[in-house]
Amino acid sequence: MKKGSLIIVKAEKMINQGLCLGRIEGKIVLIDGCLPGEIVSAKIQKIKKDYIEAKTIEIIEKSTSRINPVCKYFGFCGGCKLQNLNYSEQLKIKKSFVEEAFERTSKIFDINVNNVIGSDDEFFYRNKMEFSFAKRWMFEGISYSVKEKEFALGLHIPKQYEKVIHIDECFLQSNFSNEVRNFVGDFLFQRNASIHSLKNRSGLLKALLIRESKNTSEKLVGLITTRFEENLIVELGNKLNETFPEITTFVNIISNSNISSTIPDKILTIFGKGYIIEKLFDYQFEIYANTFFQTNTKQAEKLFSILLNYLKEKNFSNDFSKGKILVDLYSGVGVIGILLSNYFDKVIAFEDIDESVTAAKRNAEINKVHNISFLQRNLNDGFEISEELANYDLTIIADPPRSGMHEKTIKSILKLRPSTFIYISCNPVTQARDLAYLKEFYRIELVQPIDMFPQTYHIENIAILKISS
Ligand SMILES: C[S@@+](CC[C@H](N)C(=O)[O-])C[C@H]1O[C@@H](n2cnc3c(N)ncnc32)[C@H](O)[C@@H]1O
Repeated sequence: MKKGSLIIVKAEKMINQGLCLGRIEGKIVLIDGCLPGEIVSAKIQKIKKDYIEAKTIEIIEKSTSRINPVCKYFGFCGGCKLQNLNYSEQLKIKKSFVEEAFERTSKIFDINVNNVIGSDDEFFYRNKMEFSFAKRWMFEGISYSVKEKEFALGLHIPKQYEKVIHIDECFLQSNFSNEVRNFVGDFLFQRNASIHSLKNRSGLLKALLIRESKNTSEKLVGLITTRFEENLIVELGNKLNETFPEITTFVNIISNSNISSTIPDKILTIFGKGYIIEKLFDYQFEIYANTFFQTNTKQAEKLFSILLNYLKEKNFSNDFSKGKILVDLYSGVGVIGILLSNYFDKVIAFEDIDESVTAAKRNAEINKVHNISFLQRNLNDGFEISEELANYDLTIIADPPRSGMHEKTIKSILKLRPSTFIYISCNPVTQARDLAYLKEFYRIELVQPIDMFPQTYHIENIAILKISS
């Protein structure tokens, strides 16, 4: 066996990243481009010490769960790897990702992972998309002008940072989003606006952000550039206002670092109020261009309902004499702490990004929630609460980014020994890794995956832990 040779292999199961696992001559093969149960002819791409990487060339025996993908960019674009698999099978596979993460990563074997709560919308479910500007990925058989080769607005191909597919439709956000992206792309192409790249350090355009509220009609468009080009931005603002009266705010996000990151240095509001309002249950939230909000609003409501129902069922009362404290870690714009605030005497929330902390305080104010404090803190340094509060009945909720929690954060949690610990995560592997530190002291009461990201291999998961008596 050597690089480039063809092998016939059976895909036993799908693992993270949407790759399938097979075996040949006792060695593990990670196969791209096939589905579990399929027998394929695959070309060896890399031979590593413990495994082989291979790419499907031909499907010899097809899975009965295989369906035709709806998107013409499927197979190139990195966004929707599972679009060729029927939705009920996607949910089963995602449940197996969670089980595998708990068993393999943290050696927690005797837990019951609930069936994944599926999404009612299999497409057009995202409330936020960021499309990148870069050189154009060129499809075989299509000829491109010199100008077209230099300009694309769309989505990245996996592992291709310098080029993007110039798309004219995407099934993850609404049709409105497609129209706005195409309009902005055409406008900037005609104006010969330059694209920022790592080589071309003077380029202007980095990305286009589109955020839509699902429960109000507000919509935010943000153009991410390396500098403020006043004439161009004002003209684009006027055109957007004229053509899409449904856009409630347009911002220019200035991100002048010479890396591909779109982290803002400054946000200029060109028209509108600079943020949109989203509603969840009876609460309203201000969402800014750069603040986190769960990307699938309807599924987020299901996730938050699980937390609310859990608190109700466990007889968390509204009786303020009982002394119940909630610590909300990685609190973003304060959604979880605010939604659950009725069940606690006091909520203390920690978040790193200043703008999110400011927005969270505003959100508490507009929702008239007075028992919550938001503190700016990099949780990688650990955290503490006052000794007096540590003596109350304590619940901690953590909702960290994909990388999971820092060891110092876990140490702080263990020091406080909350009676309930709730861990929400979009990466079951890091979630299971972190929970391994707690398993000696806690029992896992609930593991509930929720599909926030249909057509992709991503899965959100809630774990609820109770202190062992
Ligand atoms: C997955 S989001 C959760 C937000 C919030 N719980 C919600 O549901 O809207 C993760 C949040 O953690 C914040 N964050 C990331 N790293 C952090 C750190 N080291 N310390 C504190 N907050 C951090 C991010 O800014 C982001 O707001």
